[in-house]
Amino acid sequence: MTELMTAIAEIVRAGGTTMRQAFTAPDKPAYSMKGRQDYLTATDGAVEQLVRDAIERHFPGDAVLGEEGGGSVDGTRLWIVDPVDGTANFARQIPHYCISLGLMVDGRLEAGAIYEPNQDELFMAQRGKGAWLNGERMQVSGVSDIKLSTVEIGWSPRIPVQTYVDMVGRAAHAGCSVRRAGSGALGLAYVAAGRIEAYAEAHINSWDVAGSLLLITEAGGHVSDFWTPGGIANGNPILASNAALKSSMQDLFGTPLI
Ligand code: IPD
Ligand code: CA
Repeated sequence: MTELMTAIAEIVRAGGTTMRQAFTAPDKPAYSMKGRQDYLTATDGAVEQLVRDAIERHFPGDAVLGEEGGGSVDGTRLWIVDPVDGTANFARQIPHYCISLGLMVDGRLEAGAIYEPNQDELFMAQRGKGAWLNGERMQVSGVSDIKLSTVEIGWSPRIPVQTYVDMVGRAAHAGCSVRRAGSGALGLAYVAAGRIEAYAEAHINSWDVAGSLLLITEAGGHVSDFWTPGGIANGNPILASNAALKSSMQDLFGTPLI
């Protein structure tokens, strides 16, 4: 592993371990609501601070954007962190959440990692070097029949209900098995690992995708152009697919895949 990936692995493992300790502590994590259907726990802030401190130690001077603390949206080297993705799951004692960390260099993803502490799963990718799950090379699935595909369609109160219902309806009519597991970052990592064929969401934030998108392209899949101007600060729609269903998924969701 390169020095960069070793440091990233150390950082996300430390964050994930903190999260799991809070999740399994006798006093279950208390939560509050940032807004409608938008959960917040003390762990979100604590893990983000841990990541910020570690980046400052390993890579002094690099810029950081975090879901909780905000920050820079540009910089030659920009780290984008979601301390707890799947916060609703975390808060409600559902063991499906992760930490997500991506590094952009000159506006392009250079490295990404997702750590899911309950199953001790570390998904990592570096540009041009490949994608790994716990050290094993990852590859997207080879499923080429949409009627045999599984698609996760993400939801948040940021989008109109009808938009979500239409996406689910189109996918279900096409014969996809549709799911929503509540962590966009993990859903995207599962596309890279070949566990599902596609992930789609009408609007998602940069911290939800920055650790995952490179996993997919380095594992042989395709993603939509999330990083168009404004994507880092305001988010964008996202579509990710295995290679075999690229054109079917593009047509289904009306989003071009690169
Ligand atoms: C949310 C989750 C969810 C996705 C939303 C995100 P959070 O992030 O990733 O699956 O559909 O778009 O906002 O609130 O768990 O950090
Ligand atoms: Ca998130």
